[in-house]
Amino acid sequence: MSHRLQLALTKGRLQDSSVEMFERIGLDCSPIKEPGRRLIHKIPDYPMDVVLAKAPDVITYVEHGVCDMGIVGKDTIMEKGGSFYEVLNLGFGKCRFALAVKDGSDFYGGYKTKIIASKYPNVTRAFFDKKGMDVQIIKIEGSVELAPIVGLADAIVDIVETGATLRANGLVPIEDVAQVSASLIVNTASMKLYKSGIEEFIAKCENELRK
Ligand code: PRP
Repeated sequence: MSHRLQLALTKGRLQDSSVEMFERIGLDCSPIKEPGRRLIHKIPDYPMDVVLAKAPDVITYVEHGVCDMGIVGKDTIMEKGGSFYEVLNLGFGKCRFALAVKDGSDFYGGYKTKIIASKYPNVTRAFFDKKGMDVQIIKIEGSVELAPIVGLADAIVDIVETGATLRANGLVPIEDVAQVSASLIVNTASMKLYKSGIEEFIAKCENELRK
């Protein structure tokens, strides 16, 4: 029996855009659109199953080879790293990492070591290392915008999409850290073992993105 490709898809923000792209390349995505509590969905007219997972877990499943491919944001790839092929920038899920502070605050002024709160400590570390600036980083699990307001941090490094969350909390972006969008990643062994199936899928996505 031929191998059914296993694709790990990031639940939430990237899920709808991914499903739209799959439909445009001709896949019947009805099972993913009515997922219920089910986590694995067979595509009826294509030899592929879609596994819904949280972003960092998409990378873990692909790295371990239980999923051949994954769709995940560049933000998670930059933070978590790992060994896999990043084969295609899918163009959707566009946002950016930005450094943001309380409106009116002078981030680069003064001599005290600055404290930065972020859900992405590795991205933050790499950004300030590149500047040669020593900072203290505090890892926060969510709603990072709170940290400067309550006085825990001088600034945050976080995802900005529309900027609405920053504005609503009296924060302003002062520098871009990196651009982010969704990527298609592939397990290194699967790329050899299921080369033709994976290449066919990548080609379908590429053709659609070029339109
Ligand atoms: C991200 C980010 C901001 C928000 C930015 O959070 O952490 O809070 O989106 O979007 P905006 O610029 O359009 O307002 P997300 O919704 O992904 O949830 P999280 O807090 O779990 O990361």
